[in-house]
Amino acid sequence: MRNIHSLVLLCLAVSLTSAGCKKEGAANSNEILIGEYASMTGNTSAFGTSSDKGLQLAFEQINAAGGVLGKKIKVILADDRSDANEANTAVQKLINGDGVVAVIGEVASKRSLAGASVCEKYKVPMLSPASTNPAVTVDNGRTKPYVFRICFTDEFQGRINGRFAAEQGWKKIAMLTNVEEDYSKGLGSNFQKTYETGEHHIVANESYRNSDRDFKAQLRKIKDANPDAIYVPGYYTEVKLLLPQARELGLNVPFFGGDGWDSPETLALDAAQGQFYSDHYAAEDPRPEVQEFVNAYQAKYKETPDAMAVLGYDAARVMADAIKRAGKVDREAIRDALSKTKDFPGASGTITIDESHNARKPIVVLQIQDRKAKLFKTYPFE
Ligand code: PHE
Repeated sequence: MRNIHSLVLLCLAVSLTSAGCKKEGAANSNEILIGEYASMTGNTSAFGTSSDKGLQLAFEQINAAGGVLGKKIKVILADDRSDANEANTAVQKLINGDGVVAVIGEVASKRSLAGASVCEKYKVPMLSPASTNPAVTVDNGRTKPYVFRICFTDEFQGRINGRFAAEQGWKKIAMLTNVEEDYSKGLGSNFQKTYETGEHHIVANESYRNSDRDFKAQLRKIKDANPDAIYVPGYYTEVKLLLPQARELGLNVPFFGGDGWDSPETLALDAAQGQFYSDHYAAEDPRPEVQEFVNAYQAKYKETPDAMAVLGYDAARVMADAIKRAGKVDREAIRDALSKTKDFPGASGTITIDESHNARKPIVVLQIQDRKAKLFKTYPFE
């Protein structure tokens, strides 16, 4: 144990001054090392555990079918405990300590932004399964060369949320945004840009922070503004608390949000029944790619996969496909192959990576009914 410890320390020390201690991505010649950073614990642990389950299932299937380039994929998982600083440290450890050839992560945009800066610095390809904030892949108009995602962005999601609200006939919307999360702020402002035209008005714009547990002050102000519906572009961690509080205050208009609502904990709530949120896939979608995935996932984990699970699964498969197309275990070659991903038949939709390193994919709006997420409407990519 002590020896392993000093070896890792030595690697870390050496990698600060040279190209690195280990040959990138190869623990031995029969394995390809992929790093994964995820929130396995901490406040949004549902995100990390789900994306990891999807990812593990995909690599298990890929390895059972012979692996990639004749080698088995080995995943090294680093728990960032739902914290952006920890995400930064976790990715440094994966790159400099373990010598991974590529990195998969994160779900939450703030942590992907933290991990992306490390991957850019060390020129290691990173693939985010689920982070939708535009700045994850594009910094002030410049596409980050090593950072990719297999999901759509909040420019698209916010726009569709705005259109959905207008289609529902809602003329007055109240917003409630988490000012400490890039995801929430970005989605909120993109929504506002599309929705707030002509006869559509934002009648209240309230905010909260990650540590908040009581939302009644904001909800009272919202109630006074008498909105037709309430937009909460937040994570399930707060959504699950504020929905019941709204009911207690007699605030009975519809609530809706984005993919951050996705979690078994949201679906289980009484106060969530009938509400809407946009997401990356619907488990009931009859496409064979979806049903094969859902069946395999259910057989292994005895539960219905959520969006993070399907995106973890697809991220792993897109990464394996890129390594195969790269033809060698090499960071630059994998980066190039990722950028050329085209028409990949994902379970979350057909994946084509564009020049901004984002995936062009449709979005679904789901309605919570009988404690399940039911498909309400699909919007094609535009
Ligand atoms: N899109 C969210 C973010 O960028 C993360 C998320 C994805 C949450 C999918 C739930 C489901 O932060």
